Amino acid sequence: MADQLKGRTVFITGSGGVLGSTYVRRMLDEGARVIASDLKGHRADALIEKHGANENFRFYDLDVGDEDGCTEIFQRILKDGWEPNVVLNNAAITGELLMGAGKPFPDFADTSVEDFERTLRTNLTGAFMIARQMDRDIVGKWPCTLVNVASMYALNGAHHPIYDGMPFKNFSAYGVTKAGIHGLTVWLAGYWAPRKATVNTIAPGAVFNNHSEEFQKRVGELIMAGRMCEPDEIADVMLFLASPQSGYMTGQLVNVDGGFSAW
Ligand SMILES: NC(=O)c1ccc[n+]([C@@H]2O[C@H](COP(=O)([O-])OP(=O)(O)OC[C@H]3O[C@@H](n4cnc5c(N)ncnc54)[C@H](O)[C@@H]3O)[C@@H](O)[C@H]2O)c1
Repeated sequence: MADQLKGRTVFITGSGGVLGSTYVRRMLDEGARVIASDLKGHRADALIEKHGANENFRFYDLDVGDEDGCTEIFQRILKDGWEPNVVLNNAAITGELLMGAGKPFPDFADTSVEDFERTLRTNLTGAFMIARQMDRDIVGKWPCTLVNVASMYALNGAHHPIYDGMPFKNFSAYGVTKAGIHGLTVWLAGYWAPRKATVNTIAPGAVFNNHSEEFQKRVGELIMAGRMCEPDEIADVMLFLASPQSGYMTGQLVNVDGGFSAW
């Protein structure tokens, strides 16, 4: 569909990651103005290098765990002349990111309160702070929508054996935050409805990102479709949720997981 997002101005957190960068590319292709944001660093740099010359693209540094940054973000965007009508709470500390410092992935018994709370701060409190600021600066001023990002491991427990011998595991706080984010969605849906704002959750399945053959096989056996998905297959549904065609949906959790959650 061409121009599915014409008239949409989409603000995305964590835009430089596997899925975020796919949303940016696909949304620009569909005629949206895209306001990307992420932590400073190589992911942000790559995104700016790729899209910086596009007049429909802007980038703002934003750590969603930083309250001042979240409080100021929409005022910065509005001051620069764009009015976001779609917001994607996409930023997250994923399990892989916890290994960033090169330390071994912690077992549950060795999980520190610091790592647990750091994950809550980014994945859940960050999403709350963006939604709260949307409420203050945008909701009720023009029709708008928020998409919160959960996971197939939000309302379903992780299959721990598939991580045996892998360099990463499923981190306990991750699933906790992803279950919590849908709580934020259903809470906000009724709260915002009188002001013509909708809010939904997308729960992506297992996205292929250079995983080993063995890991792909183990995950594939848990999925009706028998395989991991491509980022564009999640983006197809994200585009719909960001488009006017989803205008009568609010408070919903949309699983895009090859049937994983339906066995
Ligand atoms: N990839 C998957 O298999 C999968 C499955 C289910 C859900 N998801 C969810 O989809 C979303 C995107 O995932 P992804 O696969 O692109 O992950 P990713 O790790 O590739 O990208 C996450 C992005 O969030 C950014 N980020 C981390 N902390 C941040 C902070 N404090 N402030 C701002 N940005 C921050 C990172 O810099 C990164 O660009 C996440 O919410 C993730 O939980 C992913």
